[in-house]
Amino acid sequence: MTSGTARVQFDPAGMDSGAFYRVLNSVVVPRPIAWVCSRSAEGRVNLAPHSFYTVACVSPPVVQFTSVGRKDTLTNVEETGEFTVSLTPEPLFEQVNATATDFPHGVSEAEQCGVALEPSERVSVPRVAGSPVTLECRLHSTVRLGDSTVVFGRVELVSVWEEAVHDGRPRIERLRPLARLGGNEWSTIGEVKEIRRIPHRRWAEDPSIGEQLRGS
Ligand SMILES: Cc1cc2nc3c(=O)[nH]c(=O)nc-3n(C[C@H](O)[C@H](O)[C@H](O)COP(=O)(O)O)c2cc1C
Repeated sequence: MTSGTARVQFDPAGMDSGAFYRVLNSVVVPRPIAWVCSRSAEGRVNLAPHSFYTVACVSPPVVQFTSVGRKDTLTNVEETGEFTVSLTPEPLFEQVNATATDFPHGVSEAEQCGVALEPSERVSVPRVAGSPVTLECRLHSTVRLGDSTVVFGRVELVSVWEEAVHDGRPRIERLRPLARLGGNEWSTIGEVKEIRRIPHRRWAEDPSIGEQLRGS
């Protein structure tokens, strides 16, 4: 198939894996950031951002994040079977980035970066006090893929600041999540658009829906 606009092609077969990784990071955007808090078997608390993060399953509720290589977060989660994921809010931009510093094993990123933690409800791992949302998770499973490990966590509880919930639904303008882009770029929410899903019966009732989309 041909198209009108010239494209640059990035083929992993002909590229260094690090260079291809940078391309992937620049095109799979924006990515939500999981601020993953975990605890080692000796009880040391760890906090690190992971942007390879999404919902993996609806029922049972499961989220996933990926550890590229072996990091303290992955080791801790495997050791204790628990972690929390706090949403990374715009006001804590500098702190989120600083918790990705490669501090020596055993150093608490939260303490070094001035990120206040508080107890969670269902798991023994704390949550970020200044984050409006936390998912409390128990390890479901891990899948090793090449140099990375995907961690699946069963969500036991989602806690949201009262002020961020309106009519029973957490509101994006109160959550103000950060997202990760390529290179050293990050983004904030920007303009929020709303649109309803179109049920199939409406296409038959109103032919102009399709005509407008096709520009006819
Ligand atoms: C915004 C952001 C997103 C990141 N996403 C990931 C990721 O998805 N997977 C990963 O392995 N590392 C990711 N990193 C790097 C880790 O946070 C970093 O290696 C950290 O030091 C790991 O901490 P730990 O060894 O205490 O687990 C990210 C860093 C930043 C700043």
